[in-house]
Amino acid sequence: MIEKQEVQELFPTPLWIVDLRPADAAVLNAMLKTEIERLIAPRPKVPAGSNWQTPQDLHKRPAFADFAKLVETAARGVARFLQVDQYPMAITGCWANVNPPGAYHPTHHHPNNYLSGVYYVAVPPVGSRIQFQDPRPSMIMPKPRQYTRLTANGADAQSKPGRLLMFPSWVKHTVPANDGETDRISISFNLMFTNFTETMASPMWGATAGKEKA
Ligand SMILES: [Fe+2]
Repeated sequence: MIEKQEVQELFPTPLWIVDLRPADAAVLNAMLKTEIERLIAPRPKVPAGSNWQTPQDLHKRPAFADFAKLVETAARGVARFLQVDQYPMAITGCWANVNPPGAYHPTHHHPNNYLSGVYYVAVPPVGSRIQFQDPRPSMIMPKPRQYTRLTANGADAQSKPGRLLMFPSWVKHTVPANDGETDRISISFNLMFTNFTETMASPMWGATAGKEKA
């Protein structure tokens, strides 16, 4: 009868997790924190639950050059992993978020880019999570005895200082309220292929007829 029954996972969604060496993270984060504090000072009033965001061009500022290099290195690793590193990519936006206690960021994604991510400069020990939403439509969802990555429609990732997360830009994510007593400081970024229309957007299949008449 049945010889074997196995599972092939179709279309998995990647989340890349890059951790800096703690000593390196401490030095980088101290520098980033100072620069970010400088950019948002004096802090304008924001509605309860909301956060402060810097301009989105940090990757072009000399003070953030080392950080931009870190993001580009991590992105190259991702591109190599996906075997698309023959197409150059560049940071298109990079900004810092300062979430005071109680602040959250509602569900969103980052359109018009290929990769997005976040790096953690300071994270209070409590509530140091980011939540990702399952992109698949949920038609029938029996409650399993225990949720697994095959049955859950959300997944948490742990954030901590010195950690960089990268994911496809279409993955929806949410930052829950900061339950800690100190600011949660992160830097978000997007990357896109630099010459998308020139080298990547034309049809990927060959014509079967009429080539010589075109
Ligand atoms: Fe985001």
